[in-house]
Amino acid sequence: MQSVFMKKTQRFSREKQGTRNHLQPYMISEELADGFHRYMEKHAAVYNDDIKRIQAFLRHPLPQSPVIFDVGTGPGLLPVALQRHLTTAVIIGVDSSLPMLTQSLENNTHIFESYHPFLATVEHLPFKNAIVDLAVSRFSVLYWDHPQQAFQEINRLLKPGGRLIIESLNPEYPWWRLWLMILGMFFKGASSQVLSYQKDAFKREYHLEQIEQSLVNASFTIIHRETQQNDWKTVVVAEKQC
Ligand SMILES: C[S@@+](CC[C@H](N)C(=O)[O-])C[C@H]1O[C@@H](n2cnc3c(N)ncnc32)[C@H](O)[C@@H]1O
Repeated sequence: MQSVFMKKTQRFSREKQGTRNHLQPYMISEELADGFHRYMEKHAAVYNDDIKRIQAFLRHPLPQSPVIFDVGTGPGLLPVALQRHLTTAVIIGVDSSLPMLTQSLENNTHIFESYHPFLATVEHLPFKNAIVDLAVSRFSVLYWDHPQQAFQEINRLLKPGGRLIIESLNPEYPWWRLWLMILGMFFKGASSQVLSYQKDAFKREYHLEQIEQSLVNASFTIIHRETQQNDWKTVVVAEKQC
């Protein structure tokens, strides 16, 4: 079933987007960043689950100002929600797309002292070792070209015992449900560019096992996973070995 979906979307991608294919870096136009931002802002309640998970996996005792790293922060709506619940946190948002990062800066001007946006790819992070208490990445991993290298970089930045929460799409999700989901997004106001961006993520097809193996290869220990065949997302929590 799934391979039928894959073939269809790959064909769609070649026809609609010319020479770009899923192995090239994804170029995000201002229009796409704006459309993504507007769609996610309307549905910002989805970040509440992330906040609960982050609170559950932050190691205790908490430092006075825990450093939280949001990898592939996009329009920076997770930092907005985070700051409401963890008011003393220092949040670093990294994204490889300037239009996305610009949105994130605009959304977080009210917390400019505690939010630090950086334009960088996750595979090459311009930070010192062992500065981060918890890293989170929400629906970004499927666009990364070198996940294992990325996990090694994140591991380097984490303090010993620091944790990484990865949320990703479930490649086992039945294709017909995926199409219903995409249709639902259309009716909830997602632009055609946003829909295409979302569909392209599924083409990367990183299975949970692959993500976990890359994490283990990057010296993480898997401490928690959430996955169900009928859920469109998966979550893995990994800990940096002390
Ligand atoms: C689907 S968006 C998710 C945005 C945000 N995490 C959210 O949930 O609202 C994926 C984001 O990952 C970023 N991204 C993709 N590949 C990246 C990479 N190699 N390094 C850093 N950011 C990347 C994209 O630019 C985009 O902003």
